[in-house]
Amino acid sequence: MAVKFNEETKTFTLQTSKSTYKMKVDSYGMLLHTYYGFPTDESDLSYLIAPDDHGFSGQVGEIIDDRTYSMDYFPLEYAVHGNSDFRISALRAGKKGDVPALDLRYVSHEIRQGKYSLPGLPALFAAPGEEDVSTLEITLKDAYEEIYVKLLYGVFEKKNVITRSAVIENRMEVPMELHRAMSMSLDYLDEELDLVHFYGKHVGERQFERRPLTHGITEIASVRGNSSHQHNPFVILCEKNATEDQGGCWGYSLLYSGSFRFRVEYDQLDSTRIVCGISDNEFVWDLAPGESFVTPEVVLTYTSEGFSDLSAGLHRAYMDNLIRSPWKYKKRPALVNNWEATYFDFNALKLVTIANHAADLGLDMLVLDDGWFGKRDNDKAGLGDWYVNERKLGCSLQDLATQINRMGLMFGIWVEPEMVNQDSDLYRKHPEWVLEIPGRMPNQARNQLVLDLSNREVIAFMKESLDAIIDSANVEYIKWDMNRCVDNIYSTANPGLSQGAIRHLYVLGLYEVQEHVLTRHPNLLMEGCNGGGGRFDAGMLYYVPQVWCSDNTDAIERLRIHYGTSFGYPMSAVGAHVSACPNHQNGRVVPFKTRGVCAMQGSFGYELDLSKLTEEEKAEAREQIRFYNENYDLIQQGTYYRLTSPFENHDYTAWSYVAPDQTRAILAAVHTDLHGNPKPRRVKLKGLQKDALYEADGTVYTGAALMQGGVVLPKPECNYDSYLICIRKIR
Ligand code: GLA
Repeated sequence: MAVKFNEETKTFTLQTSKSTYKMKVDSYGMLLHTYYGFPTDESDLSYLIAPDDHGFSGQVGEIIDDRTYSMDYFPLEYAVHGNSDFRISALRAGKKGDVPALDLRYVSHEIRQGKYSLPGLPALFAAPGEEDVSTLEITLKDAYEEIYVKLLYGVFEKKNVITRSAVIENRMEVPMELHRAMSMSLDYLDEELDLVHFYGKHVGERQFERRPLTHGITEIASVRGNSSHQHNPFVILCEKNATEDQGGCWGYSLLYSGSFRFRVEYDQLDSTRIVCGISDNEFVWDLAPGESFVTPEVVLTYTSEGFSDLSAGLHRAYMDNLIRSPWKYKKRPALVNNWEATYFDFNALKLVTIANHAADLGLDMLVLDDGWFGKRDNDKAGLGDWYVNERKLGCSLQDLATQINRMGLMFGIWVEPEMVNQDSDLYRKHPEWVLEIPGRMPNQARNQLVLDLSNREVIAFMKESLDAIIDSANVEYIKWDMNRCVDNIYSTANPGLSQGAIRHLYVLGLYEVQEHVLTRHPNLLMEGCNGGGGRFDAGMLYYVPQVWCSDNTDAIERLRIHYGTSFGYPMSAVGAHVSACPNHQNGRVVPFKTRGVCAMQGSFGYELDLSKLTEEEKAEAREQIRFYNENYDLIQQGTYYRLTSPFENHDYTAWSYVAPDQTRAILAAVHTDLHGNPKPRRVKLKGLQKDALYEADGTVYTGAALMQGGVVLPKPECNYDSYLICIRKIR
């Protein structure tokens, strides 16, 4: 077992292939966090705390005669509010109406084989036949009240991943109130760390940023009801010297698609605490006697081998242990989506014309985007009316799907089930189904309001309408969109309930509907979307194997978006399409070839009117589709390497995929600037066998030469020129 408890020293040691995680129950029953980092033995490392009298750091409860014992500077496993620790905390809770205070002490623990699951929430699971996964459950109790906290740990030994979640139980006879219920906290004694996080905006998600932690509290959060375009629930803490190839780094990924909060405090003694979980902004949760609250799961990983290794580990774990879609290891269909081709202006004839070209080029699927239902000719009306607009289309959905299928293409469709326009039959019938604060005009966004997913009737309606759409024709794919933030928080369906619970109930409702669709339509391919990548998080990947990565389809801006996304998420999860030029978001013109190279970084397709392609572009498209089909296994299963950073190298961006057995690789490079009298541009490969011989573009190299010397990129022939170079082991 990868989890050990030493009865004598009362220490827990969790071992993975590249890390050790340690806790200790001290003589007062406090659960201390004593280590997370490079693999070490079972020693009791609590001596490193070195108790001292740190003035103004007080003592909890009965500890009146030892001024060196203070929760305010001890490294703690699950920091709570109210025990004289004034740093950021994970739990702020107590009897309803009281000022919250807790003092948690160890009660018991249990170690078992396999991985725990979380009701109604995403969680990693052990893959079939994966034996090296264990669960540790530690029970803590408040020193005064019947308030219990179960800390859950899943240890994936070979995968080098540890998961955490906390379950808060009210065993009192009176109601309890949670004001903050985070998934975890963790303390570092005195490392000097940098924070890496991924900020952004609509049409510019997951931009890489690295900054030193300075004294005080740093926060990365969303209060928007979705995980958001602006911040991502995945951060890395790393040593100062950490690079792609070496150095200690710790990844923290929250499996949650709603408002979240990561806080990092660098404190008076240069210790660092990280806390993360559901955003406690507006959060209030009532726990009746006998009830419990389950926090979302966090995935933790540590490696001493730098960011590449950290990402590769997460990619593997998410593919094998998080994504459940039957499509996860299958080749994803190369598709054409009509959004940027037609926007709302289409009928069956236009779609069939696009599909004809798609079939001719060798694509696999046509996706019918927004505008096929209700009275939807623009974004002002129709959301919520999930019945096909036959007048606009000119035929039924089934007829259209049949025509598409006859061309040998799959048929997919866009939906936005969480939303409603005020100008819709649904809103006219059920105005009480939206989130809207009584007596106030609702805040608008894209002319739509948010359905109240804390309302059971709404959940039932969503399940029924999605089933009806999928069953009405041979729908083999849906793109599940969400085009505004969750706002106007008030649920008329739950007047007795604390309105502070609505945001979380919304996410639970969303997961419930997605679970229903996944179970009811087991072969369906679902792609997530939230105005592009506003809900690109690990929680979502439990339900969908891929997410439309951004509404920005410009290949050059996508380089940065894909780069940032790749740190925390597998590339097969990245939906990426070739679109028309000048690009619709920024007006840039990029060669057709390069648009293909960039879109092939993930799950590939086109988002333009294929009937308008020139013969030359058609030939290029055929070649792109052939290349994608032939090399998809590498893109999906290979190890992804960021070879240069588009945030540092402004001349070119390069990345590669290397097959698990190192016999094949793809090197991709895009020039992002041109110079007169240019210097040679050399790119070093990674992850090959140093003694093997490889062939690339007709030249033979040793693996060592490719990795230590590199290849020289051909000189760019035009602005934004690019290359895809296949590398094969010949001996
Ligand atoms: C969002 C999506 C787009 C498209 C439109 C349709 O913005 O991200 O891809 O589907 O909605 O309204």
